[in-house]
Amino acid sequence: MNRVMLAPFQAPTLSIGGITLASPVVQAALSGYSDRAMRVLARRHGAAYSLGEVLLDTFVAVVGRNKRNLARIAVSPEEHPVGGQLMGSNPDDFPPAARRLVAEGFDVIDINFGCPVKKVLGRCRGGYLLSVPETALEIVSRVREAVPPQVPVTLKMRRGIDDSPESADRFWTIFDGAFARGVAAITVHGRTVQQKYVGPSNWEFLASVKRHAGRRTVIGSGDLFSAEACVAMLRQTGVDGVSIARGAIGNPWIFRQTLALLAGEAPPPPPTIHEQAEMLREHFELSEELHGAELAGRLMRKFAIKYARLHPEYLPVRTAFVDVKVNANWSDVLARFYGEDGPGRDPAADIDETTEC
Ligand SMILES: Cc1cc2nc3c(=O)[nH]c(=O)nc-3n(C[C@H](O)[C@H](O)[C@H](O)COP(=O)(O)O)c2cc1C
Repeated sequence: MNRVMLAPFQAPTLSIGGITLASPVVQAALSGYSDRAMRVLARRHGAAYSLGEVLLDTFVAVVGRNKRNLARIAVSPEEHPVGGQLMGSNPDDFPPAARRLVAEGFDVIDINFGCPVKKVLGRCRGGYLLSVPETALEIVSRVREAVPPQVPVTLKMRRGIDDSPESADRFWTIFDGAFARGVAAITVHGRTVQQKYVGPSNWEFLASVKRHAGRRTVIGSGDLFSAEACVAMLRQTGVDGVSIARGAIGNPWIFRQTLALLAGEAPPPPPTIHEQAEMLREHFELSEELHGAELAGRLMRKFAIKYARLHPEYLPVRTAFVDVKVNANWSDVLARFYGEDGPGRDPAADIDETTEC
């Protein structure tokens, strides 16, 4: 990709209720990825705010002493402000879960009305709620009432269930109704639930949402695979913030690169091989602290495969990470492919096939 310098652009100030963030650059909620380790890494490397992976309300409410479960709701003192995201179907199940997340240290409670996974929809959760505005808004009210007034409640929505006019009407009913019930910000992913990840995120729709919202806070989502794309979304749609999702998996540099562009600076080059090794080690350490060595080793494989996209020898590095069975092999791959320094490559050119919630 050409690293072109963009004309200076006055970045918007992103506030979520009483929380004013240092920049409009956000690490998105990513199921299976945005655990405390990924979030802390994102914050250390330039994200102003991050969200945990979506959690089932009925799970959160009953998390006991099980270490593995506690890790899923763990917050680090260095990551504030951080958002916790809930998913469920029954409005009654949300309040205890929301209160528990606040007790664990989450600063913002986000509600998921976007997940398009079949099993989730089948259980009337996530994106399904876009088809039932009354229930969706009841959930919003119950969460808003459940947590202290200074804790912002936010929403994550797709642009509808499908492209029908009824779906569009329901989107606006939920959007306006949620703000009327005290929601502080809404993140909109410009794809429909039916679309899953096929086709582009509709940024024109995001622009129309921000025009409609006026001073109400809207964060944009969809197809943010490079710093240039993040700045382009802010410019083209007028949204108050950008929520970087797949583009941040194995590429925490995207946050600082976006900040550089927003400051009118020349875009930094892709990280060198040694910088990549350092980041991989930092990520591994954070993951090990949270999950212990064995689980961290397994979890890090899926991240490492994404980090490999920045290495000039992408395919052999990727294959070597896929083959990692134990933590010792992990160090072998680092020694073999990351020992000698050299320039990295831009990962944005690759099609990313990661698609889930
Ligand atoms: C693997 C994966 C997991 C996701 N998990 C969540 C989640 O837990 N909560 C959520 O609101 N969105 C989730 N999303 C949606 C993303 O936050 C984002 O809205 C979507 O990927 C579009 O942005 P992108 O095209 O820049 O990736 C997930 C997406 C992916 C690919």
